[in-house]
Amino acid sequence: MSHSVKLFEPLTIRGTRLPNRIVVSPLCQYCASDGLAQPWHFAHLSTFARGKAGLVFTEAAAVEARGRITPQCLGIWTDEQAQALEPIVAFIESMGCVPGMQLAHAGRKGSTRPPFSPRGPIPLNDEDSAVAGAPWQTVAPSPLPVVEGWHVPDALDDTGLLEVKQAFVEATKRAVAVGFRALELHMAHGYLLHSFLSPLGNERSDAYGGDIEGRMRFPLEVAAAVRAAMPDDLPLFTRISAIDGREGGWSIEDSVVFGRRLAEAGVDVVDCSSGGIGGAPRFRSDDSGKPLTAGSAREPGFQVPFSRRLRDDAGIKTMAVGVIIDPHQAEEILQSGGADLVALGRELMYDPFWPLHAAEALGVDPDYQMWPEQYAWAVDRRAQIKALNQGDS
Ligand SMILES: Cc1cc2nc3c(=O)[nH]c(=O)nc-3n(C[C@H](O)[C@H](O)[C@H](O)COP(=O)(O)O)c2cc1C
Repeated sequence: MSHSVKLFEPLTIRGTRLPNRIVVSPLCQYCASDGLAQPWHFAHLSTFARGKAGLVFTEAAAVEARGRITPQCLGIWTDEQAQALEPIVAFIESMGCVPGMQLAHAGRKGSTRPPFSPRGPIPLNDEDSAVAGAPWQTVAPSPLPVVEGWHVPDALDDTGLLEVKQAFVEATKRAVAVGFRALELHMAHGYLLHSFLSPLGNERSDAYGGDIEGRMRFPLEVAAAVRAAMPDDLPLFTRISAIDGREGGWSIEDSVVFGRRLAEAGVDVVDCSSGGIGGAPRFRSDDSGKPLTAGSAREPGFQVPFSRRLRDDAGIKTMAVGVIIDPHQAEEILQSGGADLVALGRELMYDPFWPLHAAEALGVDPDYQMWPEQYAWAVDRRAQIKALNQGDS
């Protein structure tokens, strides 16, 4: 295999070797039962391993029941939930890929309906939606709803903060015990830890609010506690919203400061997303203050500038995500130093064999050695037949 193609260059972080630079971005499926993985989760995640993504992250797994986004979200607050994921972990490993888990707490964005149902908060008195303990009282740094009409969360007190931190630690131990070899902390998209960081979610006057130092305190404590509970050779990722994209919100400069502090706390990779603190971002991704049109939020690679900036200025590895579609585009992001890894979401849902197709497009795997052996010989024959038929015409 050619190693001049960066997308297929292995990357070792701590003691963990990722076979290539392609990562499955966390993708909520909204079909867990009481936090338990279902056959769908096996089928969904295993497909990406058959497609040979280097690192397969689960969807956001809630570290406690009230940390779910919807009643149908995956959980990791019980041993039974962790055990239900074991066959998935084993399958991903069997394909030579690294199984990863995103650990999350929804905070004030919890107790909602899945996006297809349609999305929105489940009010506390909504008996029709009462499944698996839902709806529930949400928690946050401050009693501020996401937008008017959403839940008014309870502000976490010192005991509540300790409970949440401990829930992250226990979830870490469970995930590691069943074989996950990379973890990602969800500190983006307006969920609990992001809402501590952003001045738009955090109006606390204690040590966990105020200036950036205070607002970073709880997320950094969680990162350090999770790191301490992980074996040294496993990488820890953190997904951030690099900008809020709203007036008075978290900025790219704040993210650079935070990136350095995450590195000190033992985080290995910052996964650079954006937005979510209170509706769609309103400013362009370059944080120039120019208004964002609906279309410009979806330009190919629109969040790559954040990843590039953190990689250059925060002294930490980064992962780029967001409308990365074309193999040549992905390769260019890596070659030009925009990121160490690329994460794909929707494109991989559309084509779970994207990494194998990308290898072909970039001229890496003419013998189809990367394909699962059950398929490789047949895919090779297919290519030969196709070439013959093309020759005939
Ligand atoms: C169906 C779906 C579920 C998602 N679930 C999560 C999630 O659990 N955690 C997370 O951090 N982001 C989640 N995201 C965001 C994706 O991980 C990704 O950042 C986003 O879709 C942009 O990448 P893409 O353009 O390659 O899809 C989700 C996106 C989609 C489409």
